[in-house]
Amino acid sequence: MASAFTADIVPQAPEDPLFGLMAAYRKDTFAQKVDLGIGAYRDDNAKPWVLPVVKKADKIIADDPDLNHEYLPIAGLQQFTSASQRLSLGADSPAIKEGRVASLQTISGTGAVHLGALFLSKFYKYSGQTPTGYFSNPTWANHGQIFDTARLSHKTYRYFSPTTKGLDFEGMMSDIKATPEGSIILLHACAHNPTGVDPTQEQWKQIAQVMAQRRQFPFFDTAYQGFASGDLNKDAWAIRYFIAQGFELCIAQSYAKNFGLYGERAGCFHFVTAPGSDAQSTITRIASQLAILQRSEISNPPAYGARIASLVLNTPELFAEWEANLRTMSGRIIEMRTQLRAKLEQLGTPGTWNHITDQIGMFSFTGLSEKQVLKIREDAHVYMTKNGRISMAGLNSHNIDYFAKAVDKVVRETQ
Ligand SMILES: Cc1ncc(COP(=O)(O)O)c(C=O)c1O
Repeated sequence: MASAFTADIVPQAPEDPLFGLMAAYRKDTFAQKVDLGIGAYRDDNAKPWVLPVVKKADKIIADDPDLNHEYLPIAGLQQFTSASQRLSLGADSPAIKEGRVASLQTISGTGAVHLGALFLSKFYKYSGQTPTGYFSNPTWANHGQIFDTARLSHKTYRYFSPTTKGLDFEGMMSDIKATPEGSIILLHACAHNPTGVDPTQEQWKQIAQVMAQRRQFPFFDTAYQGFASGDLNKDAWAIRYFIAQGFELCIAQSYAKNFGLYGERAGCFHFVTAPGSDAQSTITRIASQLAILQRSEISNPPAYGARIASLVLNTPELFAEWEANLRTMSGRIIEMRTQLRAKLEQLGTPGTWNHITDQIGMFSFTGLSEKQVLKIREDAHVYMTKNGRISMAGLNSHNIDYFAKAVDKVVRETQ
C-alpha cells in the first residue's frame, strides 16, 4: 500500500544545524580538531565534567534504602519545584510569600519554554487576539520552532550590533516600543545565547519601564543562572527586578548547564501572576490548566535529574559546594575569554577583540563571517556555528594558541 505521507505532504526537513555540526566533528580524524559548537561545558582536557557535588548527591540517592521508581506527581517533585522558585525568584520573593507563583517541573529548559508557549497559545488574549511573541535577533534557534509547534506567531526585535559586537540598545528599545500592546517579549535572563551580550542593570530598568507602558508580557528564559557570572543572585537580577515591578510573567528554567545535567532533562516552569487581592485564585486556576497541558504531553516529569538538583538545592552544605563548582566552570570560561583576547591582540589580528571579554557566559559571537567560519573549518578543523558563535567551554590551555592562530590566519586571508 502506498504511504499517505508523500514528499509534498511531508517534505524532508533539514538536519538540525548544531547536531549536524557535531556529527561532522566526530567524523573528522584530524588530531588537532577543535569543537566549539555545542553549548556544553568541557574541562581543560576537553572532557565533559560531572560536577563533584552531583557525584556526591548521586551516591546519596543511590544509597537511599527508601528510593523507588514510582511516578512523580504531574507538577513534578515538590521539593524541587519549590527550591527552584527560591533559586530563581529569590528566597525572600514577595511573589512566593504571597502565593502567586505556579511551578511545574519540566523536560529541562526546552520543556519549560514549550509549556509556557502552549499555555499562552491556549489562554493568552489581548484585545481578543492571541499576541505575537518577540525574540531578540538573534536568539536560541529553538525558540522559533517551539513557538511554531505551539502555534504562536513570532517576530524579532533588534538586539545585537554587528558593528560594536555588543547590544544595540537603541534598536532594541525602539523595536519593543513599536510592538503591539500586550505582546509577549522573550528575554534571556543572563548569558544571552548565541551572542553572550546582556543588557546592564540600568538598561534592564529601561526595558522594564517600556514593557510596563506597553503592557507587555515578559517571558524569561534562564538557562545559565550561576554559570554566567558564578553568582546565582547576580544572574537572576533581571527576573527579580521585573517581578518587583509587578509584572505578570513566566520563567523557563534549565538545570542543564549549571548542574551539568544535560541529558537528565531537569527544568522548571514558573508562572508568576501580578500582585492583587485575587492573585491566589488566579494562580490556582492557572496551575490547574498547566497541569492538564503537562498531563496530556508527558503525564509526569522524569525523576532522576530533579532528585539530584533537589538534594543539592535543599541541603546547605551541598548548596555551598555547588556554588564552588559553578565558580570553577564560570571562572575557567572567563579565563579563556581573557586569554583569547590577549592572544589575538598580541598577534595583531585585524579588528577589535574587546567583545570577547565584554560578552558573558557559554558563548561568544566572534564576529567571524560565514565565509570565515567555513574556511576555518576547512583549513584548521575548527568547528563553530555559521553565525560565528563559539562555545567558550570548548577552549582550553591545550588548544587556545592553535585556535587564536587559526582565527588570525583566516581574518588576514579573507580581509
Ligand atoms: C537560551 C536557552 N534556552 C533554553 C535552553 C534549553 O536547554 P535544555 O532544554 O537543555 O535545558 C538552552 C540550551 O542551550 C538555551 O541556550
